Parts: sequence; structure tokens; C-alpha cells
Amino acid sequence: MSGRLAGKVCVITGTGGSIGQATAWLFAKEGAHVVGCDIDPSAAEATLAEVRSKGGSMVSMHPCDLTNPESCRELVDLAIRSHGRIDVLYNNAAMAYFAPFSSMPDSVWHSTINEELHLVFNLTRAAWEYLSRQGGSVISTASTAGWIGHA
Ligand SMILES: NC(=O)c1ccc[n+]([C@@H]2O[C@H](COP(=O)([O-])OP(=O)(O)OC[C@H]3O[C@@H](n4cnc5c(N)ncnc54)[C@H](O)[C@@H]3O)[C@@H](O)[C@H]2O)c1
Repeated sequence: MSGRLAGKVCVITGTGGSIGQATAWLFAKEGAHVVGCDIDPSAAEATLAEVRSKGGSMVSMHPCDLTNPESCRELVDLAIRSHGRIDVLYNNAAMAYFAPFSSMPDSVWHSTINEELHLVFNLTRAAWEYLSRQGGSVISTASTAGWIGHA
């Protein structure tokens, strides 16, 4: 542990999932105060328990549906109530849907845009006031699928 994130308040989304869970622990190990969330309450609770049991600092809001702007504001409120600032926003949560392009139904396309894109906008906008106060960092996960296609 090198304390690279000592005292930093880091909001991480999707902490019930695989990358989110690993990141929550890694950030906590580096000294961050982690503020997690997930739409899946039991998965998020498991991460919260694990991080705390190892001595990490973490609070979590779950269930939290980031496609709902009001839930995003509540998550930001939790961070500010708990620590008074936000230094890092890691937009990790997403729900990917896959379908052959030519036969993708409208409903799947709209779910993709809502659950992969709108949720990032909703939370970044909600957190912006606090991030901009001290020049915070925004990390948003994408995919190599944005660079290369798959037959
Ligand atoms: N694992 C990979 O190979 C891979 C590849 C490319 C991109 N990614 C991206 O990395 C990120 C994390 O991937 P992962 O493999 O850990 O996925 P995962 O499915 O294990 O975790 C994603 C988490 O986000 C949560 N989530 C989904 N929609 C939500 C919402 N509306 N509100 C709140 N939480 C929500 C899920 O419940 C889940 O716990 C995603 O953005 C994913 O698209 C992953």
C-alpha cells in the first residue's frame, strides 16, 4: 500500500460488479474514501462488507439506478454528507446489450443508450459542482469495441 489516494474521496459506480468491486478495494487500499453504488443491492452490500472487513473506508448507496437523475443526486449527497468533497468520479457501471446490428430492436438500442451513456451523463452532471471545486478527475470506462469491430 503506497497511499497514492490518501484522503481522496472517490465515487465509484457499479461496485457490485467485477471491475467495480476490484477497484473499490484497490482504491481503499491506496487510502481513498470510497463512495460506491450499484443497482444490485446484494452485490453492492457484499463489496461494502469486504472492503470494510479489510479496514478500508467505504460507504455505499444500493439499490441505486444511475439512469435516474434523482438517484444520481442522492449519491452525490451521500458523498458530500460523508466527506464534504468529491475528488474522483469513476463511471464504471453499465449494462451492455448485444445484438447483430441489422436486427437490433429499437428497445435494445434505447436501453443501450440509456444504461451505457445517459447514466454517465447523469452522474457526471450531478457531481460536477463538487469535482470542479478542486479540479477533480473523471474516469469513464469504455471498450475496445469502440476502436475495433467484430464480425
Ligand atoms: N469485463 C469486460 O470484458 C469489459 C469489456 C469492455 C468494457 N467493459 C466495461 O467495464 C465496466 C465494468 O464491467 P464489468 O465487467 O465489471 O461488468 P459487471 O456487469 O460485472 O459490472 C457492472 C455493474 O454495474 C451495475 N449497473 C448496471 N447498470 C446500472 C445502473 N443503471 N445503475 C447502477 N448500477 C448499474 C451492475 O449491476 C453491475 O454490478 C462496464 O462499463 C463495461 O461495459 C467491460
